[in-house]
Amino acid sequence: MKGPVKVAIIGLGGRGKDTYSKYVNRFPEKMQIAAIADPIESKRKDVAAIYGIPEENCYASAEELLAKDRLADVAFICTPDKMHYPHAMAALEKGYHLLLEKPVSTSAQECADIAAAAHKYNRQVQVCHVLRYTPFYQEIKRQIDSGRIGEIVTVQAMENVQYWHQAHSFVRGNWKKKETSSPMILAKCCHDMDILLWLTGKKCRYVSSYGDLYLFRPEKAPEGAALRCTDDCKVKDTCPYNAENFYIRDRLLKGRDKWPVNILNSYPTVENITEALKTGNYGRCVYHSDNDVVDHQVVNALLDDGVTINFTMSAFTSTGGRTMKIMGTMGDITADMDENWIRVGEFGKEPEVIDVRTLATDFSGHGGGDFRMVEELLDDILEDKEPGCGLTSIDKSLESHYLALAAEDSRLNNGQSINMDEWKKQYEVLA
Ligand SMILES: NC(=O)c1ccc[n+]([C@@H]2O[C@H](COP(=O)([O-])OP(=O)(O)OC[C@H]3O[C@@H](n4cnc5c(N)ncnc54)[C@H](O)[C@@H]3O)[C@@H](O)[C@H]2O)c1
Repeated sequence: MKGPVKVAIIGLGGRGKDTYSKYVNRFPEKMQIAAIADPIESKRKDVAAIYGIPEENCYASAEELLAKDRLADVAFICTPDKMHYPHAMAALEKGYHLLLEKPVSTSAQECADIAAAAHKYNRQVQVCHVLRYTPFYQEIKRQIDSGRIGEIVTVQAMENVQYWHQAHSFVRGNWKKKETSSPMILAKCCHDMDILLWLTGKKCRYVSSYGDLYLFRPEKAPEGAALRCTDDCKVKDTCPYNAENFYIRDRLLKGRDKWPVNILNSYPTVENITEALKTGNYGRCVYHSDNDVVDHQVVNALLDDGVTINFTMSAFTSTGGRTMKIMGTMGDITADMDENWIRVGEFGKEPEVIDVRTLATDFSGHGGGDFRMVEELLDDILEDKEPGCGLTSIDKSLESHYLALAAEDSRLNNGQSINMDEWKKQYEVLA
């Protein structure tokens, strides 16, 4: 088709507004925002003013936008986790291609339903597994595919959530409760499950998992901890989760006013952030929030051909990012995404250390994954390519979502080993 691709952005939060809308400036010849939807008027007004979107195409909800005839070629579904399913299904029915934020859904059946609808309406559904598009993971994949380390036998991977990120998003923030968002292994780690299956090129046969909420609960509160950091908290000087220190002193006052500070207020000032800490969720003591998602979890998976994966997610890390060791029949690959290096050790040879920063110039947005993923979808639509052709797609994302959801079932059943084929039958999902 002739460009630019018309986009309807549904949900104007950290993803829809602060990330994807900005790509109009990056590739204006490929992308045009035709319509937007969000219940928050100020967000709609901001985006409409910047990109010249007529008022009649600015909607107060996804439901309103999707009730109209199709307004664009592709809908970017950037609403909260639990809304992805109704919004994705309605958009597919209207004939939109989709950029669909992860998780696809928190239910295996709904994931399968979206895949079925994508096939029925013959639409692209690109799931935002942005890590696949990063120079870091692309290079690891290239090294594996080159055959240097032989056949992969086992992988050890780690998601270092980092203590403050856990507190911000998963203790105080939108992903703190499983019922209103997703289990942690899906919310944070569906990316890891996706990458692990993609890199190994295998399907999971059996999975088991343990994990719990160890720290962020009332009985772990230090003596003298107040219910809010802005109250008379006796441990505020020593607590690494002191919200006033974190949002105001260490960030805002040092000119760092983007994420995560702008989640409390899109236009942060000391006054409005102080007010948010006094009254909103982000000022709550991490031991006295209403969170229930885990702060540590391990997953063991047996893949095709006896290949194994051992994955750990932990809040209790001083730095963030992902690390992994991939062990093959002829060598190993050790890699650290935060530090941007990959070490390839072929047995009997000097190891090669690759500085990932030399492989690309732009690492903005999830290690450079965000804009590369969007550009691929726009190109695929412009070139009228077959649905599912992208590096990610709904079909390619199903296995990782099933793996995460089955791991959560295992965790809730004391680490019971789950036979994936049987599990899929139980949920009547696609093979
Ligand atoms: N791919 C990734 O790596 C990645 C990273 C962060 C978040 N996410 C996912 O992206 C999604 C959005 O995350 P976010 O950080 O932007 O969240 P957010 O809370 O900042 O944004 C969500 C937006 O949706 C709006 N909304 C709520 N109900 C709506 C409705 N009925 N119609 C239209 N809009 C509605 C909210 O007002 C809000 O502006 C989540 O599912 C999240 O898990 C993915």
